[in-house]
Formats: sequence, C-alpha cells, structure tokens
Amino acid sequence: MKNRKSKSPIICRCNNVNRETIEQAIRDGADTMNKIFDSTSAGVGPCGGSCRRKLMPLLEHYLKTGTFPEKIVEDLTGKVPAGTTSEDENQ
Ligand code: FES
Repeated sequence: MKNRKSKSPIICRCNNVNRETIEQAIRDGADTMNKIFDSTSAGVGPCGGSCRRKLMPLLEHYLKTGTFPEKIVEDLTGKVPAGTTSEDENQ
C-alpha cells in the first residue's frame, strides 16, 4: 500500500485543494479570490472559507512580486483588499 505524502500541502481542507493547484491557477490568470474559487474550488467549502486567510496572502504576494512566498503568513486581520471579493464584483 502506498503511503506517500504529497509534497504540496493542503490549503483548503474542505475541498482537498493543495498549494500547488492554487499556485498553478494563479499562474494561469486567477488574479482575484473569486477566480481562485472558480478554478480550484478552494475557499468555498462548508467551513465558510477559513482557508481564505491563506489564499489571500498567497495571491497578494504573487501579484506584488510575481513569485510565491516560501511560507504563507496567514492574514488574520479579516481585511480583504478591493477587487478580491464577490461583493466587489457584484457592485
Ligand atoms: S478550508 Fe477551504 S473552504 Fe473550508
């Protein structure tokens, strides 16, 4: 029986989405949280999106630098930048 761990950590436990999948989606053009939700299903699970505090710093870092951080520092402020929420897109 195989018992190998994925090298890419799971970011969204609700939908079993790993970091590699999220980074690839961002590289492929998911430049808002909604686009990440749509392309990976991360952030829209039954917990209500607790992984978004990891998704946001990952996305912000990439948009600022073009690279991904080695370690994700969770955003615990509860603040969401403009243009990255479903509310912004619906207004
Ligand atoms: S952990 Fe991602 S939506 Fe629940």
